[in-house]
Amino acid sequence: ATRKLFFLPGDGIGPEAMAEVRKLVDVMNADHAAGFEIEEGLVGGIAYDTHGQSISETDMERAQAADAVLFGAVGGPKWDGVGYDVRPEAGLLRLRKDLELFANLRPAICYPALAGSSSLKRELVEGLDILIVRELTGGTYFGEPKEIRDLGNGQKRGIDTQVYDTYEIERISGVAFELARTRQNRVCSMEKRNVMKSGVLWNEVVTANHAAHYADVELSHMLADAGGMQLVRRPKQFDVIVTDNLFGDLLSDVAAMLTGSLGMLPSASLGAPDEKTGTRKALYEPVHGSAPDIAGKGIANPLAMIASFAMCLRYSFGMVAEAERLEAAIAATLDDGVMTADIVGEGGTAVGTGEMGDAVIAR
Ligand code: NAI
Ligand code: MG
Repeated sequence: ATRKLFFLPGDGIGPEAMAEVRKLVDVMNADHAAGFEIEEGLVGGIAYDTHGQSISETDMERAQAADAVLFGAVGGPKWDGVGYDVRPEAGLLRLRKDLELFANLRPAICYPALAGSSSLKRELVEGLDILIVRELTGGTYFGEPKEIRDLGNGQKRGIDTQVYDTYEIERISGVAFELARTRQNRVCSMEKRNVMKSGVLWNEVVTANHAAHYADVELSHMLADAGGMQLVRRPKQFDVIVTDNLFGDLLSDVAAMLTGSLGMLPSASLGAPDEKTGTRKALYEPVHGSAPDIAGKGIANPLAMIASFAMCLRYSFGMVAEAERLEAAIAATLDDGVMTADIVGEGGTAVGTGEMGDAVIAR
């Protein structure tokens, strides 16, 4: 079978990290006949420099046609002054919107070798494996009205509106329940039903969806502020957390800091399964940005990008054993003390981006 990958390396360290995934894909094709086909396009600042848009129509079509999109990072000081519609992030937002990527998966995994470098106590984070499922295309970031209104008396009013419809809550909670079945079978839903109507509806729909289709999964509910506290206090109590766009943004960043470095964190954004084929649109990207401060030096940590590819194997191609093997290789690399500058401890020797990629492939 052919498996069509569309690479959008982007700016800064994006292409440096993506090069390590390309090496890995080449090895999987050569040694294991994995049948990956890679196309590559432009996104972000480099796309703007080349043709004046943050992503071209042609590349949008190629993204639509691919089985999975791998995205590096976009942006940098060079493009800080460009117009709003052509700014680097616009390309990423367009991809999320046009591919209808409503489910954002942010794992927070603490590798044993890094448990000591977390900002928290080792016993709190060692063995941590949380998956935050964040709704990505609705809620406060998109609801109407959204404006700054001039009240005419020297006052202005900034307005954002949280809107959620039943179907949006059903489909995101469905993703969370299904993923839970492949893990520890537990979902914690977070909202603020005590002060928000959309929170009341969220709670009702998640509960009803659970009773109707996922009663085998253990479901709990938590107010999102208490959830934030629990994430820091006793993070290992969670398996899958499902929450809205705004709370998910905050909670996933909190969870990220339980694990060590930004250079370690992958993410996946998934669309709805196609009714005929069962396949879904998907984009995989590291959580970090283009890191202009270290770009071009060959020292960026490629593990977030490589771990994003592991998610791609699991969620787009059902290659669960291969994904687990790749994740185990990442853990083994770290166990052997092979680390880039961002994660190496005091007195340790850092390797470069290419050596890190090679070390994972070797294992
Ligand atoms: P950043 O994530 O690029 O960097 C933050 C800090 O973490 C820097 O000190 C950087 O060197 C370090 N870092 C990040 N990834 C690393 C890696 N893989 N290996 C080693 N060190 C790493 O965030 P920042 O500095 O706020 O933004 C830089 C640019 O990236 C901006 O133009 C921003 O708009 C853009 N950005 C793009 C994102 C995306 O493409 N999805 C996400 C976040 C920021
Ligand atoms: Mg955020």
